[in-house]
Amino acid sequence: MPNAKRWVEPDPRRENWFWPTEELKARAWAADEKVYEESWADPIRFWEERAKEISWFKRWDKAYHDEPLAYKWFVGGKLNLSYNSLDRHVEAGKGDKVALIWEPEPPNEPNRVFTYKELLAEVSRLANALKELGVKKGDRVGIYLPMIPEAVIAMQAVVRIGAVHSVVFSAFSPESLRDRMVDCGAKVLITADGYYRRGKAITLKQNADKGVEGTKVERVIVVRRAGLDVPMDPSRDVWYHEIVPKQSPECPPEEMDAEDLAFILYTSGTTGKPKGVMHTTGGYAVQVYTTCKWNFNLHEDDIFWCTADVGWITGHSYINYGPLMNGVTTVVYEGAPDTPDYGRMWAVIQKHKVTAYYTAPTAIRMHVKWGEEWPAKYDLSSLRVLGTVGEPINEEAWLWYFKHIGGGRCPIIDTWWQTETGANCVQALPGIGPFIPTVAGRPFPGIRAKILDAGGQPVQPGEGGYLVLEPPFPPSLLRGLWGDPEKFKATYFSEYGPGYYFTRDGARMDEMGNIRITGRVDDVMNVAGHRLATAEVEDALSQHEAVSEVAVVSRPDEVKGEVPVAFVLLKAGYTASEELKKELVKTVDKHIGPTARPAEIYFVDDVPKTRSGKIMRRVLKSLVRGAPPGDITTLRNPECVEQLKSIVGSGG
Ligand code: WTA
Repeated sequence: MPNAKRWVEPDPRRENWFWPTEELKARAWAADEKVYEESWADPIRFWEERAKEISWFKRWDKAYHDEPLAYKWFVGGKLNLSYNSLDRHVEAGKGDKVALIWEPEPPNEPNRVFTYKELLAEVSRLANALKELGVKKGDRVGIYLPMIPEAVIAMQAVVRIGAVHSVVFSAFSPESLRDRMVDCGAKVLITADGYYRRGKAITLKQNADKGVEGTKVERVIVVRRAGLDVPMDPSRDVWYHEIVPKQSPECPPEEMDAEDLAFILYTSGTTGKPKGVMHTTGGYAVQVYTTCKWNFNLHEDDIFWCTADVGWITGHSYINYGPLMNGVTTVVYEGAPDTPDYGRMWAVIQKHKVTAYYTAPTAIRMHVKWGEEWPAKYDLSSLRVLGTVGEPINEEAWLWYFKHIGGGRCPIIDTWWQTETGANCVQALPGIGPFIPTVAGRPFPGIRAKILDAGGQPVQPGEGGYLVLEPPFPPSLLRGLWGDPEKFKATYFSEYGPGYYFTRDGARMDEMGNIRITGRVDDVMNVAGHRLATAEVEDALSQHEAVSEVAVVSRPDEVKGEVPVAFVLLKAGYTASEELKKELVKTVDKHIGPTARPAEIYFVDDVPKTRSGKIMRRVLKSLVRGAPPGDITTLRNPECVEQLKSIVGSGG
């Protein structure tokens, strides 16, 4: 890497600590420690300064409204997310700059490239088509699309007209789609015929058809991506290419109130039913814009590639809104990281001269397995910043990423956040550091975080506890759960009251304020970076006729971080078999999707229960970790633990 600059240097006193070089500091948006103390002392002022960098149709009257469970930001301000992502760059004379590069999975298929001007025109055309189909401000529009430019275009078009998108991961089952469409009452769905994954054309439209049955979805727009022959219902379905190109390329953006709903994104909680996380316009725009800019050190010439799927919050904030609001180029990749071979990601970085690369620890661990010879074949010297997200990163993966992808030159920004926080909240800033494996870093400027014990007292540095956020809450923190205010309160504001947002993550903090996330403290798993509730998998399995009872817990996994493991009690008349295991896996596919497949299914006679009949998942969790079961004296059926131990020990 002849001309590649060095952005970090090792700490001479502490092994595996790294600091920004003068070169990086000179380019960074924040390079002085003072930004922390100053912004934490007055977060409202900090965020107001940041908010001035984006475009408002009308400035806010009041920056922060502090009310329990009804906090608000930029009250009275008017803006539009799509205007901030597109129009303002075109108006600033940057219309010919490349906004989006799409890399299809088939390596020989040409890229699709959109300048800001072209993207704005296409978004406006789709926005007009949505209007033609009767979509109005506040209406919900479902998006069930693969990783194609239209996924970004669709989100942008929906918020442009003041409607509310709810994106559903394209690998989710029809049933998952239906649950979400019913819950949010979507009127229109945007989907595609199919897409390419590992060299095969996968159909999506048939899933969409099943998913909209019994919902309020009246119209379905279908993008032709894979040239598949798909059934079209003429009274309901319309091809994207038949309704969009004929529209006007101009569509005035709706003036949204800062607190108007922008989107709903469903995520896993502790129950079987996913919750609709609500994000509003102003606070979300400001925090996503700022974190994307500061954490990835974005400038005019950056090519940003976030490998998440648009179905997750990371895709919303760091494929679409973050990079586009910053006016940089965002890369969208359609397919799998191992197609046509293990070098694909590195080939894409080389081809498009990617400068900032943002991925998940689970992906890095996969690359570690595939071997460093793959990245070694490519010129990765364009990279300046690396990011990770979604789960704690282990030291081995961090160091591998640092050395083999970043060439030992680039900082790794380990960003902690959640669907609920909408944008990054904890990480090391590139111009400040330090960059330490397994340690995310300090709260972002203007964000106040603490580690509390179960009683609500702050813990000593180095001690484990629970991560909470304090008011003024981050601008992009969720404003509620769609249709379920009680659950909003119970999930985030009951343990410590309305004065703290409870993240449900365990963490510890060092003397300097660096936070290390230890993982979820509830029944939520992180499976290959995908968030999943044990209860969802239990719900799915229990719908199989053979299942009388089921308990699902997570088990650590070398590559995926965690995987679900199921303990199944069969109804009388059914016998355990490999065949039945396969059927159960299919049931999970049907109700949720392949991401939720159990790694192991144990057929058992009993599971540990309390005297009141509640399953003690804690005991099962210990067993699958090969750990002692802990206190089992309160169990109704302690005798089952020995049997389970031998079953788990023998591998099922
Ligand atoms: C976990 C993804 C450790 C955490 C953006 C959180 C992390 C959950 C990190 C949210 C990180 C996310 N280090 N753990 N850098 N980032 N998590 O809603 O447990 O899909 O609560 O949002 O992922 O997952 P979600």
